[in-house]
Order: sequence, then structure tokens, then C-alpha cells
Amino acid sequence: MVARADSLRKRTAPLRFACILPLDLRSSWWIGPVEVPTRVVLAPMAGVSVQAFRRQGRRFGAGLVCSEMVSCAGLHHGNERTLGYLRIASDEHPLAVQIFGSEPALMAEAARMVEDAGADIVDINFGCPVRKVTKTGAGATLLDDPDRACRIVSAVAKAVDVPVSVKMRRGLEDGSRACLHVGPRLVDAGAAVLTLHPRSAKQMYTGVADHTLTAELVAAVDAPVVACGDITSRARAQAVLASTGAEAVMVGRGAQGNPWAIREIVEGDTAEPDRDEVVAELILFIRETVRELGERKASGFLKKFYGWYLGRGRFPRPFKQELVQLESTDAVVERLLLAAPGAVEVLARLEEESTLVDDVLLELPISIYGGG
Ligand SMILES: Cc1cc2nc3c(=O)[nH]c(=O)nc-3n(C[C@H](O)[C@H](O)[C@H](O)COP(=O)(O)O)c2cc1C
Repeated sequence: MVARADSLRKRTAPLRFACILPLDLRSSWWIGPVEVPTRVVLAPMAGVSVQAFRRQGRRFGAGLVCSEMVSCAGLHHGNERTLGYLRIASDEHPLAVQIFGSEPALMAEAARMVEDAGADIVDINFGCPVRKVTKTGAGATLLDDPDRACRIVSAVAKAVDVPVSVKMRRGLEDGSRACLHVGPRLVDAGAAVLTLHPRSAKQMYTGVADHTLTAELVAAVDAPVVACGDITSRARAQAVLASTGAEAVMVGRGAQGNPWAIREIVEGDTAEPDRDEVVAELILFIRETVRELGERKASGFLKKFYGWYLGRGRFPRPFKQELVQLESTDAVVERLLLAAPGAVEVLARLEEESTLVDDVLLELPISIYGGG
């Protein structure tokens, strides 16, 4: 099956690119033996990609979702909070868990834990620009140390049976083309797919993602490439897919508090959600996050989501200010329902449809599953 899927991809991708046939965003593609049902991947985002975010992403049409980056050192030391990131629900698949670190042996050990937890793909972070990570030799720094980067990919690929993917930036400095030199070597070392966010680490999130580099990477490697950066609409997704030959797009900030963007990109459904729908999705998100993180952690974590959900002209600005002042998530839910009473019915339907079945595959401390 793997060979068939791979050869099919190799035959169809260049053909599509050569003829500029528009790619059907609802079509499936393969990462090794893993079938990804649509061409939209939900980006890994630290402080955002909790289970509720990933499950919601799958519900709205993302073909693949990712955990936020997980420290291999944290997994090695059995840090309870880090282990909590390996909690995977059965309706998240296919799902990638992303790990970061700089030691090949520790990364291999972490990858085995990720595989045991039920991840379909182990993703390696060579893109994080944050100093706390780069100063340890991990994240985007590895684009400047290709030998070590290759040793990491090779050690991880040997350690697990599931496919290994790598997510990277263009390089460390503005204008860098490091990804084009490192990318093919990472594929040779065992990466089954590469995701490129073509900004430099120095740029952080400023400027624009330069997808001409994505096109160059597609041409340089014999593996699928996922285009990441500034994809916020179906029109943009189609333009980037057509101009780069990438296999799929990854969506990050555009999906924050806005799962409807995923539906628009995948299906072309431009219908804006009404207030009841927005509130119902937000309440479901709040409840799931409280279950996952516990009330104390969740109430702080969730504050940024209120602005994301209720902004975009959906509710007046002072309403968000009011919510962030409230003491408990129960009080937030109560206030939301007062503003949109019709959300009760929508919520009941959503909750019925998304009953959670946990895949408990690791012997983790009970508190992680209890949600605090
Ligand atoms: C809040 C936040 C957290 C992020 N955390 C991660 C992460 O843990 N791992 C990673 O590879 N990229 C991370 N990223 C980068 C995104 O995955 C993505 O590459 C970037 O946001 C560009 O895509 P976008 O323009 O669609 O947002 C993060 C981005 C944001 C905004």
C-alpha cells in the first residue's frame, strides 16, 4: 500500500504542477502509509494546539492536526506537564506530535514515546525562533548545523515505524536559503515530508512568507512539501498550491478562534457563522479545555481565545473585556449564553456529536487524564 501510494503521488504531482491543474483541497494524499484526507494541515502552535483545538480542526476539515512542540528533555525526565501533551483522543487521527531537542539519542527516545502514545506521525521542529529554545541548540538553530539536523532525523526515523516529518523555516537570517540546502539532506536522512514556513527565524512573524522558496524546495526534494505561512483563505491556498507545487497547505494563525476559516479553505463554504454558532463553539472549546487542563490553568489559557472568537466584528469589543475580568470559566459560559441564548441548542448538538473517547496508551499519572 505504501509503495502504491508513493508511486501514485510521484506520478500525479509533477503532472498537476506542469499542467497547473487546480488541486482539489478535499482530495486525500499520503505521508508514507498515512492517508491524509484533505490538503489542509492545522499548524502546531505552542499555547494554542490543545486537544480541543485539534479535534475542532479535524471537525472543520483539517486533514492532519499537530500537537504543539513537546520537549524531548521533558519527556526524558518524565515531566508530568510534558507527558500531558501526549494525550491523544481517538477522533484526532491522523495526528502528528511535534518534538524538539538537539540530542539525537534523546530525540529518538522521545519519538518512541510519541509513537507509543498513538501518534500517526512524529514531527521534528527545526523552525522555532524563540531564544529559550534556540539557545539550547534546538529549533531553527539546527538549520545552521545540517550535520546534527541529519543525525537527529536519522536517529528518529530509525527509532519509529511511523513516518517522520520536519517543519522548518527558511533559515536563521533574513534572505537565508538554508532550507534549500538542508531540505534534501533531511529527506535522505529519513524525513517523509517537509513543511516550510519561508520566513527567517530573525523575522519571527514579521514581513511575509516568501513562497517562491517553497516552490524551489518542492523542485529540490523527492518528498511531499507542505506550504506554511500567511494562508488565511481558499483563494490564497489555491494560489500557493498552484505556484509552488506543494502537496498541502498548513494554516496557523488564521484558524485561531476561527475554525470556519478551515471550512472555507477546504470546501469553499464562505458562510459566516452566526452569533449562536460562535458562542456554541467557544463554550464547547472552554469545556473541553477545562477538562484537559483543569479549571485553574484553563481559565488563564483561555483568555486569549475570547478575543479571537468574539472579534472579527462578531461581538462588540467591550464584551471581550468583560469576559476576561470574570473569575471562573462557568461565569464566562453563563455570560456568553446570556448574550446568545440560541447557542444552547447548537451546543447540545455539538456536544452530542463530539463525545470524547480517549486513547489511553501510556501509563501516565492519573491527574493528566483527570484534567486537574
Ligand atoms: C502562538 C504560536 C505558536 C507557535 N508554536 C509553534 C510550535 O510549537 N511549533 C512549530 O513548529 N511552529 C509553531 N508556530 C508557527 C506556526 O506553526 C506557523 O508556522 C506560523 O504561524 C506561520 O503560519 P501562519 O501564517 O498560518 O500562522 C507557532 C505560531 C504561533 C503564532
